[in-house]
Amino acid sequence: MLKDWCHCASLQLGCTHVSVNYIRPLLTHYFGLFLKLNYFIMNVLVLGSGAREHALSHKISQSAKCDKLFIASGNGGTGGLAQNVSLNIEDASEVGAFVKANSIDIVVVGPEAPLVAGIHDGLKADLALANLVVVGPRKAAAELEGSKDFAKEFMMRHKIPTAAYQTFTKEKLEDGEAFLDTLDAPYVLKADGLAAGKGVLIIEDLDEAKEELKNMLVDAKFGDASSRVVIEEFLAGIEFSIFALTDGKGGYALLPEAKDYKRIGEGDTGLNTGGMGAVSPVPFFDEALRERTVREIIEPTIQGLVKDNLPYQGFIFFGLINTTKGPKVIEYNVRMGDPETEVVIPRLESDIVDLFIAMHNGTLDQMEVLVNPQTAATVMAVSGGYPGWYEKGKVIEGLRRFEGTTVYHAGTKPGEQIITSGGRVMAFTSFGVDKEEALAKSYAALKEVNFDGMNYRRDIGFDL
Ligand code: AMP
Ligand code: GLY
Repeated sequence: MLKDWCHCASLQLGCTHVSVNYIRPLLTHYFGLFLKLNYFIMNVLVLGSGAREHALSHKISQSAKCDKLFIASGNGGTGGLAQNVSLNIEDASEVGAFVKANSIDIVVVGPEAPLVAGIHDGLKADLALANLVVVGPRKAAAELEGSKDFAKEFMMRHKIPTAAYQTFTKEKLEDGEAFLDTLDAPYVLKADGLAAGKGVLIIEDLDEAKEELKNMLVDAKFGDASSRVVIEEFLAGIEFSIFALTDGKGGYALLPEAKDYKRIGEGDTGLNTGGMGAVSPVPFFDEALRERTVREIIEPTIQGLVKDNLPYQGFIFFGLINTTKGPKVIEYNVRMGDPETEVVIPRLESDIVDLFIAMHNGTLDQMEVLVNPQTAATVMAVSGGYPGWYEKGKVIEGLRRFEGTTVYHAGTKPGEQIITSGGRVMAFTSFGVDKEEALAKSYAALKEVNFDGMNYRRDIGFDL
């Protein structure tokens, strides 16, 4: 009871803009134990193991309010700033037990899968964790990413601009084919559920589109995820991404925008990947486009969540496209993007733990978000063969601290020598007065690092 009251009181205080940095040494001297018990100094657990989680952990570790930082499971780069722990991050009882045993105050959920599986609800089902700050929506709200049809219905309900669409099941295959007949090429087919980023097909030929529709619905091309398929109008334009942290009460903090580069090949060619690089800010996201995006997309989304009673405290990722008819939503994600996080979060100058506390208290509207005006660019080094088959276990040579470049690890494993363990291996992030300067630093650092088969795109930001 006392602990609950204290926790609550400290969270309230945490968002009053009293700079704890100034008074903390004094308070610590007189009330050291009291502070510890009352979560002025907080223990944080980050769930995930990619460069996104490395970048989030890096920012959290810079907060004066962060005491112990854990990451599950982390990677070869996170061990230096957090304690890597092995947990099944989709298992709420396993994560909950760790939270209790280590007096964790804040859990930051990196990837979508635990959110869509209901990790937030699972943790909060334990009354002992009623005051835990969880960054990431509850299961019902995570459907914005977990089901494309759910997201589309949400956008229709709240008049949020997006591509025209219809959803089909295998019983309605013929209706789906007839709908394709009414559309112009290219045809956009989307598996309704999570399909590890592979569930969207963009097809030029009508017969092939019909064949793929059948493969998805009848032959379960993406398993259960394609038991429903969203067919939508193709939108032409340039894509960009916006990120917000929302408190579930209509308040939100807008984070810097970014543009990512998804294709494996230079000039945006070849297969889709998880992301080969990113740049922030996005030059064409000018004041007029910002104002329109906020008015037509961001605010109706944040308010729509409240109206629909969808409990959402966490990051929202708006995947947008700037068309001749204005910005439209391509997709929502219920998490930060990767590699966008590796440019968005380093630009954030506000204390991220303060933002999490304000999120928890429902006071994000009162927070000022401070952003570094410089350009951040990141370039991803990937394994040879990725996004197809690739070898793991390659020794990474030449890694060191680079002046002006931060290396965020993704698919790396700690050990005497750091080795590769995934397709996307490391993101090289740098700042500059413009993207050219930022990218020159990242590419210079990349030249010093090597592993057998290493590949990266030499043209990140080429279209900006
Ligand atoms: P999604 O998983 O929904 O983000 O789709 C993956 C990618 O497919 C997007 O980043 C776009 O490049 C593309 N895409 C999705 N929907 C559309 C659309 N309606 N029109 C044009 N491109 C699209
Ligand atoms: N970079 C796109 C994503 O994180 O989904």
